[in-house]
Amino acid sequence: MKHLKVASIPGDGIGTEVVEAATNILKAVSDIHGGLSFEFTDFPWSCQYYLEHGAMMPEDGMERLSQFDGVFLGAVGDPNLVPDHVSLWGLLIKIRREFEQSINLRPAKVMKGIRSPLLNPKDFDIMVVRENSEGEYSAIGGTMNKGEDEIAIQNAVFSRKATERAMHFAFDLAKKRSGRVTSATKSNGIVYSMPFWDRVFEDVAKSYPEVKTDSQHIDALAAFFVTQPERFDVIVASNLFGDILTDVGAAIMGSIGIAPAANINVSGKYPSMFEPVHGSAPDIAGKGVANPIGQIWTAKMMLDHFGEEELGRVLLDTVESVTSDGFLTRDIGGKHSTKDVTDEIIARLKAKA
Ligand code: NAD
Ligand code: IPM
Ligand code: MN
Repeated sequence: MKHLKVASIPGDGIGTEVVEAATNILKAVSDIHGGLSFEFTDFPWSCQYYLEHGAMMPEDGMERLSQFDGVFLGAVGDPNLVPDHVSLWGLLIKIRREFEQSINLRPAKVMKGIRSPLLNPKDFDIMVVRENSEGEYSAIGGTMNKGEDEIAIQNAVFSRKATERAMHFAFDLAKKRSGRVTSATKSNGIVYSMPFWDRVFEDVAKSYPEVKTDSQHIDALAAFFVTQPERFDVIVASNLFGDILTDVGAAIMGSIGIAPAANINVSGKYPSMFEPVHGSAPDIAGKGVANPIGQIWTAKMMLDHFGEEELGRVLLDTVESVTSDGFLTRDIGGKHSTKDVTDEIIARLKAKA
């Protein structure tokens, strides 16, 4: 019997709604398997928690999370309660960094039954490997002067270690897929970090002669995601470029509400964390209409991570059978609630148990 202990952090807004949905789905999935069980422990760390305790998590929060096999997170952020940079750096980004989750894996592919906004989408299947620990996301900088002379300086940090790690991950992945890696750069406009990024990409590529490579400026790459997404296989991108590109990836699939993500601790020293691409969606929170598929597909990535790829495939196939039969939330043109879609997926999973 494989017993997996998962720390669940629903967070804010629709995070609580979609995590509840996906947790019920994982319970149904483990019933199919027989030899797999999940034990979820809930942590109420959120903006509301911050208002009550003055921090996004208790002092021993990371220590407590380190006891789990994985972290399953919904979304963090309620800018009406806590400034975003405080809530995100106090929880999501803190976990990514302190648990050395240096790779953020984010797929984008055509989903059965979900209409892409593209006119004639070919069958694209992309995996973005986003560097997840440094780059443009840094707390190094400051502000100076006042009034019209005020200046904000924001430094970006690109280390050879983290850059190489992301690139090796991308190349290794490409060998198992269709053998192409595209690097997202911007070395025409950014004079230190991106020429360095290009240099490391060329160095790493030398160890993978069987993998085809190309390099695209992020602005053109974002445009190609819309006009020719089928051109791409694996993409390696810096933290910010990967963030933006994966929202475009979500959009061309049909909705930001369906895109999943896995924050991977490559060494296995700390738990990895699974959270969808979307945020807490304050505009629809509490209405029961959030699309649960991003969180459910994220659960599939967690299954894959734990070596349960077959079960992951069954889960995603079941989701696509449900979407193909028209069980769709509002964001993808349907009328169904979060619960309708979730219940239908669970019913079909139970039929397989
Ligand atoms: P968002 O992803 O929360 O919402 C953008 C738009 O997409 C909204 O109109 C929303 O209704 C819609 N949307 C998102 N997820 C959906 C779903 N599952 N089903 C249907 N519609 C969905 O992005 P935002 O508005 O920029 O951010 C809101 C808050 O979330 C902010 O505090 C932000 O910092 C935070 N955020 C957190 C994470 C995270 O924790 N991983 C990610 C992104 C944003
Ligand atoms: C994401 C989010 C986060 C990021 C924010 C909320 C800090 O947009 O996970 O994509 O930029 O990494
Ligand atoms: Mn994002």
